[in-house]
Amino acid sequence: MSATESISLKSPSLPGAAYTVEHERLKKWVEEVAALCGPERIYWCDGSDAEYDRLCGEMVEAGTFIRLNPKLRPNSYLARSEPSDVARVEDRTFVCTANKEDCGPNNNWMEPESAKIILKDFFKNCMRGRTMYVVPFSMGPIGSPLAQIGVEITDSPYVVVSMKLMTRMGKAVIDALGKDGDFVPCLHSVGHPLSPGEKDVSWPCDAEHKYICHFPKTKEIWSYGSGYGGNALLGKKCLALRIASNIGREEGWLAEHMLILGVKSPEGEKSYVAAAFPSACGKTNFAMLIPPKSLAGWEVSTVGDDIAWIKPGQDGRLHAINPEAGFFGVAPGTSAKTNPNAIATLSKNCIFTNVALTPDGDVWWEGLTDEAPAELIDWQGRKWTPDCGRKAAHPNSRFTVASTQCPSLDEKWNDPNGVPVSAFVFGGRRASVIPLVFQAVNWDFGVYMAATLGSETTAAAAGKVGEVRRDPMAMLPFCGYHMGDYFAQWLKIGHMVTNPPRIFCVNWFGTDSSGKIIWPGFSENMRVLKWIFDRVHGGSGSVQTVLGWMPRYEDLDWTGLESFDRQKFDSLMRLDTALWLKELESHQELFDRLKERMPRMLVLVKEMLSLNLAR
Ligand code: OXD
Ligand code: MN
Repeated sequence: MSATESISLKSPSLPGAAYTVEHERLKKWVEEVAALCGPERIYWCDGSDAEYDRLCGEMVEAGTFIRLNPKLRPNSYLARSEPSDVARVEDRTFVCTANKEDCGPNNNWMEPESAKIILKDFFKNCMRGRTMYVVPFSMGPIGSPLAQIGVEITDSPYVVVSMKLMTRMGKAVIDALGKDGDFVPCLHSVGHPLSPGEKDVSWPCDAEHKYICHFPKTKEIWSYGSGYGGNALLGKKCLALRIASNIGREEGWLAEHMLILGVKSPEGEKSYVAAAFPSACGKTNFAMLIPPKSLAGWEVSTVGDDIAWIKPGQDGRLHAINPEAGFFGVAPGTSAKTNPNAIATLSKNCIFTNVALTPDGDVWWEGLTDEAPAELIDWQGRKWTPDCGRKAAHPNSRFTVASTQCPSLDEKWNDPNGVPVSAFVFGGRRASVIPLVFQAVNWDFGVYMAATLGSETTAAAAGKVGEVRRDPMAMLPFCGYHMGDYFAQWLKIGHMVTNPPRIFCVNWFGTDSSGKIIWPGFSENMRVLKWIFDRVHGGSGSVQTVLGWMPRYEDLDWTGLESFDRQKFDSLMRLDTALWLKELESHQELFDRLKERMPRMLVLVKEMLSLNLAR
C-alpha cells in the first residue's frame, strides 16, 4: 500500500510522490494531523528535482514566486513576504517544559498541556483548502551516527522547496527511517485557511497570531502563523538548535550556533575551527573567507555557516557536523568585496526572499554594489529610486541555496563522522573592552568568556544603539533549556575528552576615538586565523595576560598589510583594567539572572579574574 493511500482524504492526493511507508507511528501521526488540520489533500514529498521544479512553477502561477531572468540568474526565484512576517519572532517562541524553571529565564515558557490546548484550537481546520505536505528530512548526512531525522508537516510549498535546499529531504529519509526509526515531528501551518472559492494571497500567514512552540520532553515542534525563515523551516533553529540542545544534553553532546571552517597551511596541514558570533557579526563571511593573496598558500574551506553539532569522539577530540545542507543567509551587505564565495554560490538555483528586483529581472540589495541601480522594485513590490528614502531590500532579506554550490565547500562537509575541532572562536561586536584576539588559559576560562559573550546592538536592532546584550555562546535565542544548565553542559563536555579544542575570543569591531572600526576585517581576518592555527599547532608567539595568551605585534603575519602599524594594533589589544572591572560587574547581572543554576566553576573564574585585574 502506498503511503498516500493510507489516509482518507476529501479529495485524492496529488500524483507523483507515492512510495511505500512502513513506519506505523509516522503514518498514524500524519493521519491525526490531517484530521485536526482538515487539508484539501495530502502530499508526501519525494525530494526529487522534478518535484522542486513543479512546486516552484506552481508558486510562480500563484504569485508567490517571481521567476528571475534565466540568463542572469538561472533557475532562481524571488519571494516577497507579508510585511508582518519578515523575521524570527522571539517573543512568540516558547519552550514548553512541565517545570517553568527548566526552560530558564532565557526562554518564554508555556505549560505543555495548556500549550497543546491553545495550539489545537489554532490548528483546527487551519489547512482548509490547502495541500498538506509531508516533508521527511535529515539534519546531518543520512545514516550518520551524528544525524537526526525530522518530519515536517506544512501547508506551505515555499517551506517545502526551502527544506529541499536546506536539508537532505525526501524518500531517502523515509527509507532510512524504516519501520520504527526515531524522528522529530515538526508541525507547521501558515495559519491561513481558505474558504471554498476564496482566492489565495501570495504570502499567506496569520498576521495576528504566531506560536513557535518546542516540547523538549516529547521532542515535538508546533509552529503556527508564520511562513518565514526560522519560524517555518523547522529543521533549522527549532530542531537543530532548540530541540537538539535538549537531545545533546541528555546524550552528552552540544548543538551550537556555530560556523565550521577548515584552515590549511601552505605545508598542507589542516585544522578545523568552529566559531560562534551573534547575528550581524559576519558569520557567513568568516565561514567563506578567502585569504589575502599576500598570505600565499593558505586556504580556508567551508563546512557550514550557522549550526554545528559537536560530539566527543573515540580519539579524545570533539567532532562536529554541520546538520544543514544549505545556506539561509542575510543578503544585505553580501558583495563581491565582503564575500566573493557567497556571490559565486548565488549564481543560480536560488530562492531570494524580500530583496529588490532589477528592471532586467535580477536581484539587488543594499551593499551588493557601491552604487544602487537607478530604479528597482523594492521588497514590497513598490517602485524604488535611490533618493526615495526607503531601503530597497528588507534588512533581514535572505538567500536560500544548496551548500554544494559553494566554491569553498570543504571536502568533508558531508562526512558522516564529522570533522575534528581544534579551536572554538567566540566573537561579538564591541567598540572597546574585548581585544582583537586572545586565547583563554584553559577550558573553564574559555567557557566563562563564551558564557559572557556580549554584542552591541546596531541601528537595525531594537534597543539603544551601542547597548551591550549578553548573548552566551551566541545561543541566547536558541538554547532550548536553562542557560545555567547549558553552561554546566559546556564545562562537562570539555572534560569528557582528553584533547579538547582550544578556546579563543575575537573582536573585529574595536573603534577609534571617532567611532571608526580600526580592523580591516573580511579577508584580513585570515591573519588572526593564522595565529589561532599556529597556536593549536604549538607554534605562534604570545604574551600571557590576565585574560590569557595574546599575540604581540610581531606574532601576527603582516605581509601585504604593513600599513596596519604597531600603534593601531596596540590600540586594539589594550586591556583597560577599569573597563574590565565594569565588564565583570555586567557579567554579574547575567549570573544573577541565572541564580542557583549558575555553575560554581564560572563564579570562581569570575572571582579569579577580578582578583587578577585588581593586582
Ligand atoms: C539566522 C539567525 O537566521 O541567527 O541564522 O537569526
Ligand atoms: Mn544563525
